[in-house]
Amino acid sequence: MIQSRLPRARVVSTGRFNPPRIVTNHELESLVDTNDEWIRTRTGIRERRIADKDVHAADMAAAAGRIAMERAGITAEGLDMILLSTATPDRLLPSTACDVQALLGARNAAAYDYATACSGFLYGLSMAEAHIASGQAETVLVCATEKMSSIVDWTDRTTCVLFGDGAGAAVVQKATDERGIMSTFMKSDGTLAELLWRPGGGSRIPLDIAVLDERSHYVKMAGPEVFKSAVRAMCEAAETAMARAGVTSDDIDLLVPHQANIRIIEATAKYARMPMEKVYVNVDRFGNMSSASIPVALDEACELGRIQPGSLVLMVAFGAGFTWAANVVRF
Ligand code: COA
Repeated sequence: MIQSRLPRARVVSTGRFNPPRIVTNHELESLVDTNDEWIRTRTGIRERRIADKDVHAADMAAAAGRIAMERAGITAEGLDMILLSTATPDRLLPSTACDVQALLGARNAAAYDYATACSGFLYGLSMAEAHIASGQAETVLVCATEKMSSIVDWTDRTTCVLFGDGAGAAVVQKATDERGIMSTFMKSDGTLAELLWRPGGGSRIPLDIAVLDERSHYVKMAGPEVFKSAVRAMCEAAETAMARAGVTSDDIDLLVPHQANIRIIEATAKYARMPMEKVYVNVDRFGNMSSASIPVALDEACELGRIQPGSLVLMVAFGAGFTWAANVVRF
């Protein structure tokens, strides 16, 4: 499916929130049997941010959303929709999106959560575009917020060193010229769910003493298998999104990939024929913030001037599900 066409929706502004507390690799050495050298060479991570106990996923999303709204020059009443990606909702019922709506005072908005893990921000952009194209909304706030520190097992060195907390947001509105979402690619494979999941604590295996004893309510990951799938999927996503937009890697000004592991980022960039100078990397400072990784990176890149009006940006993500996605966006 070639999607080359005038964009229907555009990213008007972005915002981010990262908790101030920095936890270095060295600090983790006192929690689990690990070391700074292992973490840096295997993942590229040097430190991550961890939210305080009383800072929740909704608070972080609202903080990022407020910045994005201010930059777009819109008030909370001007939001028609709040779409929120999270693997760490404040609670299972009601949605964290409704909490964010209440925090912002966005009384005219419809709000809902969705669960596509690390691909969440890109799925959100596609949903925002669809709501706008169908005439259901004019102004959509896409939030991605993750308090990963609340679901990682701090006794499991194979996972706890990888993740961090944070949130990003974007205001999406109707496109009025050639700027906007030029192509979208989304795909999933539910047959591989068990490679990256939280098996216990849902309705299938409700939280009980056995779940707590087995620690099965925490994230479990088969790292090397996920690594291979991530590289394969992100390469497919990048290639397809560029083909659908009718562009090549030479046309792309900046690649903003999901930030899980520097080696996955480098492999994706190499396959997409993008030199690392054209790749935004912040995994060293934040670790993997799941769906918040891409919007935080995007917001930093805008602030640093690495994305300018007119820049062509390729975003690529992969996460639990499995889910993967990519977008080409003209800013
Ligand atoms: N510190 C020190 N040693 C560790 C460690 C840690 N934090 N975590 C694992 N190890 C050990 C392992 O126990 C293993 O030891 P062994 O050889 O004695 O059994 C050894 O290091 C190698 O482990 P392995 O899992 O093969 O390492 P790896 O090179 O595959 O790196 C990951 C592990 C998790 C960093 C890597 O697989 C990865 O990044 N996977 C994808 C993660 C991801 O992207 N997840 C999210 C997708 S959105």
